[in-house]
Amino acid sequence: MYPLVLGIHNILRWIVLVLGVIVLPQAYRGWLGKAPWTESARKIQVFFAASVDAQLLLGLLLYFGLSYIVRGAFLDFGAAMSNAGARFFALEHPASMLLALVFVHVGAARSKKAPDDAGKYRQVAIWFTLAFLIVLLGMPWSRPFLPHF
Ligand code: HEM
Repeated sequence: MYPLVLGIHNILRWIVLVLGVIVLPQAYRGWLGKAPWTESARKIQVFFAASVDAQLLLGLLLYFGLSYIVRGAFLDFGAAMSNAGARFFALEHPASMLLALVFVHVGAARSKKAPDDAGKYRQVAIWFTLAFLIVLLGMPWSRPFLPHF
């Protein structure tokens, strides 16, 4: 179970990144070029948010059960905080990804409420950029780029 969930969490990160690379330029083009809001813009934004939500679910499974690293860290949380690897997965990675998820949902909600099309794109552009940067910073880049099943 642990390798499977970790493997899906690994692969899904590429989907988050690819969707981010699609949604951000589209949002800036729409905002700055005053393009009309389209169904495809809405869909790609929803897919991006859904991919981050799915990462949260898998992350929670890892965090509250499957991950040996996190389990080990909670045996002695104080000691784990002085170990960079344990601290990263017990605190820094989940906290930064949760913040990114909040920003994605704030952006999606504000975009929905924006009174005009440029405003919809602007909300997505600003909040999703912040979320995407946090995802990049909170990513465990030292881990394998693809899972070994
Ligand atoms: C966009 C959101 C997220 C992305 C892109 C992401 C990405 C990743 C990646 C690439 C790994 C390494 C996978 C591997 O070694 O094969 C990982 C590990 C992990 N993630 Fe996430 N993650 C996200 C959100 C979360 C959240 C919200 C949590 C916790 C609530 C979480 C908990 C974990 C844990 C505990 C591990 C390590 C498990 C272990 O090696 O024992 N992740 N994450």
